[in-house]
Amino acid sequence: MENNLFCGDALFSAGCGRVFTVDYKAQYETLQKFKRLDDAITVYPGHEYTETNLRFAYDMHPENEKISKSLEEVQELRAKGQPTLPTTIGREKEINLFLQVETLEDFIELRNARDAL
Ligand SMILES: [Fe+2]
Repeated sequence: MENNLFCGDALFSAGCGRVFTVDYKAQYETLQKFKRLDDAITVYPGHEYTETNLRFAYDMHPENEKISKSLEEVQELRAKGQPTLPTTIGREKEINLFLQVETLEDFIELRNARDAL
């Protein structure tokens, strides 16, 4: 809608929804579609899962400074009871591992690793 994306559970900040339907291909393709949107699009996910998602991303890639810096910022906001949302497509492209995978196989592997927590 205009410059806003209301994505429900398809995309979270630094994460994405679980694939209850087991249709990983549909979820992967949806994320690829989001990735092609303009960086300036404001994203309104359905849940405030940013901190948990960033902790997972940090565990996977502790060397990634954008992720570690975002985790610190998000922890500060949450400690003050403030939301981390909305986000933007540009920000998500930097911190969301699910938008960074380049193949369906990598997406499934990452989703399974996240689900195992
Ligand atoms: Fe939900």
